[in-house]
Amino acid sequence: MENVKKVLYSAVQPTNNLTIGNYIGAISNWKKLQDDYDCFFAIANMHAITVRQNPAELRQRTLSLLALYIACGIDPEKCVLYLQSHVSAHAELCWVLNTFTYVGEMERMTQFKDKSARHTENINMGLMDYPVLMAADILLYQADCVPVGLDQRQHVEIARDIAQRFNNIYSPTFKVPEALYMKTGAKINDLQNPEKKMSKSAENPNGAVFLSDDRDVVIRKFKRAVTDSDSLIKYDPETKPGVSNLLTVYSVFSQKSMAETEREFEGKGYGDLKLAVGELVADKLAPIQSEQARLLSDKTYLDEVLKRGALLANKAASRTLGKVYKKIGFYQL
Ligand code: TYM
Repeated sequence: MENVKKVLYSAVQPTNNLTIGNYIGAISNWKKLQDDYDCFFAIANMHAITVRQNPAELRQRTLSLLALYIACGIDPEKCVLYLQSHVSAHAELCWVLNTFTYVGEMERMTQFKDKSARHTENINMGLMDYPVLMAADILLYQADCVPVGLDQRQHVEIARDIAQRFNNIYSPTFKVPEALYMKTGAKINDLQNPEKKMSKSAENPNGAVFLSDDRDVVIRKFKRAVTDSDSLIKYDPETKPGVSNLLTVYSVFSQKSMAETEREFEGKGYGDLKLAVGELVADKLAPIQSEQARLLSDKTYLDEVLKRGALLANKAASRTLGKVYKKIGFYQL
């Protein structure tokens, strides 16, 4: 029977330590979606080198991220888990798509502007080209949908623009992908600066809860979270960003609705909320951490997962790349 499942694509960069923002905004949703879609989940190591990396650390973080995907419940038998650099079609399509992308568009990208401000010593071409490589990732697999956090909105938009541009000049070649954001948790904010996104490269390490943090570190970070001078526990991101952020994290990790979460904390104080969120997150992270450690001790298994992933990803990607090369007039043997 013909496969009628839609295709889903997403990726995470193996840089720094992942935060609960990455988990809530991305990986935890992948787990829920994996039965309904044909999923490709990449480890975006080619994106990672747009900021200078220590090679040994990058290698280590690659396996560590793969183990994390699996520990979070992504099934490597159902989904294609692979390393971006194992599929050369990403770089090849990126080159072609570069010729369909304007320098001005890339200069206007928020993340490019932010990262160039933070890494003034290394504003390299890769940093600027980052969204085109991301477009190549998505378009190679003819993805219908791309589950990401809100910070990736502009990147998915540009991937759609590039796809449409190419399709209009030649003929329909790429599926035009849709971004998929979760209603709750598409943007988890920094605990110390709740108007800003929680980031792997947070300036203040107390603002980000890392997936590798120990139980007491997790609880301490939540205890120190910035709230407000009021004492009402209510979800209102505009006027109460800190409290709303804590409620969001609680709601996602407890799998309770926001209304239910608010009811649970009715009449309680901020101290109770902070402690409850900290304990809940620590409880949920513990089994993921131990499963990740177990998987990391089995490198043979992880390599096998990557080999299988590379095979399947290469097969799907080369089909699209072949079509593109033909349409643009690359002579084929
Ligand atoms: P990266 O590695 O920065 O982040 C991985 C995923 O985590 C989400 N995320 C968040 N969600 C909610 N709250 C937060 N505070 C938060 N921080 C991060 C991100 O939105 C993302 O979904 N460019 C991508 C990786 C990539 C990719 C792709 C994604 C490469 N190719 C193709 C989708 C499709 C990135 O740097 O994500």
